Amino acid sequence: MREINVAMIGEGFMGRTHSNAWSQVTKFFKPPVRPVMYTSCGRREEHTKIFSNHWGWTHASTNWEHTVRLPEIDLVDIVTPNFMHAPVAMAAIEAGKNVSCEKPIAGTLAEARAMVGAAEQARVQTFVWYIYRRCPAVALAHKLVKDGALGAIRHVRAFYLQDWADESIPLVWRFQKEGAGSGAHGDLNAHIIDMTRFVTGEEITEISGAVAETFIKQRKKMTGTAAGGIAAGVQAGEGTGPVTVDDTLLFLARFSGGAVAGFEAARQATGNQNRNGFELNGTKGSLKFDFERMNELQYYDATRPRAVQGWTTIMCTHGGDHPYAEHWWPDAHTLGYEHGFINQAYDILQVLGGHEPTVPIPDFHDAYQTQRVLEAALVSAAEHRPVALSEVR
Ligand SMILES: NC(=O)c1ccc[n+]([C@@H]2O[C@H](COP(=O)([O-])OP(=O)(O)OC[C@H]3O[C@@H](n4cnc5c(N)ncnc54)[C@H](O)[C@@H]3O)[C@@H](O)[C@H]2O)c1
Repeated sequence: MREINVAMIGEGFMGRTHSNAWSQVTKFFKPPVRPVMYTSCGRREEHTKIFSNHWGWTHASTNWEHTVRLPEIDLVDIVTPNFMHAPVAMAAIEAGKNVSCEKPIAGTLAEARAMVGAAEQARVQTFVWYIYRRCPAVALAHKLVKDGALGAIRHVRAFYLQDWADESIPLVWRFQKEGAGSGAHGDLNAHIIDMTRFVTGEEITEISGAVAETFIKQRKKMTGTAAGGIAAGVQAGEGTGPVTVDDTLLFLARFSGGAVAGFEAARQATGNQNRNGFELNGTKGSLKFDFERMNELQYYDATRPRAVQGWTTIMCTHGGDHPYAEHWWPDAHTLGYEHGFINQAYDILQVLGGHEPTVPIPDFHDAYQTQRVLEAALVSAAEHRPVALSEVR
């Protein structure tokens, strides 16, 4: 079996999920090519050695410029903060490598555009880790909509609500425009824009209005570096600095099929710890998904006799019926957060081996469409006006 040498750049929260995915994927799936965990790359030598050893990478590096150009490397996997996506991806593409990059594709639209152009010119394969597409319930929703189960979609509600960002959390890169591009918006709305584009099969054509707010305007400067969870392992130091991104951004939109939509991203939605979901209402039926109950999809079939119409809770764990389920445990033995990443690793290997992914996987060009929506909503919030997507190229 052909082997693919992977170099992963970044060793934080996503460094752990991706390392786990690359190490697990061939234990559950039979991809046409096999990933070899060649090297991981971080910033601190001591930590990098411990990290790579722990997760099963053969080599450890603190020099990403050198790593992405190594002739042995076939795929560069980028799991750094957003501002690093473009420089690492551009260097990797220039060296002729395939690239898989965390979301959002970049901190800014201009960087994302340059990444798309470079990848197309170099004819390398690219992938973006919008992993919620690879949750069986979301992949099933995509298939149901494609098969016409909802008829014409009229309303889309999408929300991604978290509550980790109180005053105690210091000024990590996620609160800085130069590190992240935007706040809850690029972090969370990015996922639900991608997810609703995927499930509906439609594009967003207009941002009709948007509102953004930063509730906590100054945060304590940090002493340590982020390692682990969203802000785990970070310690507050002396002095404060300004927060330069949104804590929350809500927007209204229109889809190409005629549906109207509302999107909400927030980091201080107390009690909503990772509430990532959507509701779609169509002329023939409706769907609801909430990641806090990720194994379930709610389906309302309005074509059934009125007397028995009602919401059905589908456990998306049946091999053969529900995407990805047959690769895991016996029916009804549920999946968790990490499985989306392992399912994505499988589909990347499928594509690299010349096969179809289980469900469509975003490349840089696709992820750029999500970035355009992010940008349009930022403009709408800043200028208090509707923004047509045709304005944002
Ligand atoms: N797909 C998802 O569901 C999901 C979830 C969380 C984060 N993300 C994305 O993943 C990316 C990383 O987020 P995270 O939560 O892992 O952040 P993190 O802060 O936990 O980790 C970032 C890592 O990048 C490393 N890094 C920074 N500069 C570097 C350099 N010059 N050379 C080498 N390494 C460097 C840091 O040392 C750290 O190990 C972001 O783009 C984020 O938006 C995606």
